[in-house]
Amino acid sequence: KVVVRQLVRDTKRYKDKEVEINGWIRTNRDQKAFGFMNLNDGTHFNTLQVVYERVNLENFEEIAHLGVGSAVTIRGTLVETPNAKQPFEIKAKEVIVEGDCPESFPIQPKRHTREFLREIAHLRPRTNLFSAVFRVRSLIAYAIHKFFQEKGFVYVHSPIITASDAEGAGEMFRVTTMDLKNPALTEDGKVDYSEDFFGRSTNLTVSGQLEAEVFALAFRDVYTFGPTFRAENSNTARHAAEFWMIEPEIAFADLEDNMTLAEDMMKYIINYVLEQAPEEMEFFNKFVDKGLKGRLENIIKSQFARVSYTEAVEMLKKSGEKFQYPVEWGNDLQTEHERYLSEKVFKKPVFVTDYPKDIKAFYMRLNEDGKTVAAMDLLVPGVGEIIGGSQREERLDVLEQRMEEFSIDKEDMEWYLDLRRYGGVKHAGYGLGFERAVMYITGVSNIRDVIPFPRTVNSCEY
Ligand code: 4AD
Ligand code: MG
Repeated sequence: KVVVRQLVRDTKRYKDKEVEINGWIRTNRDQKAFGFMNLNDGTHFNTLQVVYERVNLENFEEIAHLGVGSAVTIRGTLVETPNAKQPFEIKAKEVIVEGDCPESFPIQPKRHTREFLREIAHLRPRTNLFSAVFRVRSLIAYAIHKFFQEKGFVYVHSPIITASDAEGAGEMFRVTTMDLKNPALTEDGKVDYSEDFFGRSTNLTVSGQLEAEVFALAFRDVYTFGPTFRAENSNTARHAAEFWMIEPEIAFADLEDNMTLAEDMMKYIINYVLEQAPEEMEFFNKFVDKGLKGRLENIIKSQFARVSYTEAVEMLKKSGEKFQYPVEWGNDLQTEHERYLSEKVFKKPVFVTDYPKDIKAFYMRLNEDGKTVAAMDLLVPGVGEIIGGSQREERLDVLEQRMEEFSIDKEDMEWYLDLRRYGGVKHAGYGLGFERAVMYITGVSNIRDVIPFPRTVNSCEY
């Protein structure tokens, strides 16, 4: 009993041997004496060609009429086919039907639109595109762990239910066991969360950063990798309500160290996927985004660009490009600006640094100019922002001042301030949007197509 992955890797070993294979039919056609089926067994992107003959199979008629999607077991001999598209095939001696599949099966061998496939997220993993996407997604996750683990980073499991709003943007999903149609009320008529499960109001985490900082001040180099949630009301191709984030946090480190780490990480995972998923990358290069492979190969070799926010704003203003949103110092960069910078100006990934303090989070370190913070966003062609990070404010008095400006309740954040009181050091970190990394590496342009079960505004099937 073998799987296609073994056959591809070790064809010589199985040559002319008897093998048993399980899989699902992708195509099946027959002539009078012969039939051919393409099987996908799930273990490799490539399908396996199976040839069956009327003289060998007593159930030839049944097999010849099996629909696309049916599950079968094949017993037969592996033969090399050096002149064919695939280097080997199986000559079947026996075909056993495990589960048949009627013609109403929605995934037939033709092109389906991504929109249609999103409506059947439970069946789309059986297509070529999603077979490639989700295998690569798994590989990227592994490459990220491998990169950090090899560097000695400690993996921290940040909580999913929290009482804080790490980004201070108020985009949280509330977690409650109260009946909100009939909640406990305070004397002045507000919902009384002290009656709730945790005795206070809680929400799903928007970021594990603050908890990562706690661990960085004990373990020095740490990272989180987990789901995060944002009730952002933006219905775009790159926002999901539930997405995964990787958040390294490094102590005794500044913004420069942070950017170096981010650049090394990106190159490491791109290289890993190019090496480990050649068939999938070939497929993306051919059918999803022409030129993708060459671009990624170049990125590994070249240096990422770096530009300050202030310089970037000047460049955008001078570009003469008509943007939908105005470019003005003090406004946040929109996707169109981010993509213009990485696609038209630098033509590669670019770090934009030192954003105005009012458009970034309270924890970012205030620069000498008093107007900007030590922030960095990594913008990449095709996606825009893929990473957001910063050096953190380690000076207690400055941090307290910043929290006041943002009207953040200090009482709730004493634990965070303790990190500055007790052996505080300069430290930095960033968040990589996992789905955005998958989009970037596969060339797939909609976030809904790189996450198994997408949750976006007005949409949560399953
Ligand atoms: O820039 P963000 O909001 O930064 C943080 O959350 C920091 N606490 C990270 C840190 O310094 N530790 O988010 C980080 C990244 C973004 O660059 C983007 O790639 C991704 O997370 N992201 C989203 N991805 C999909 N859907 C959304 N709604 C996202 N919001 C952010
Ligand atoms: Mg950001």
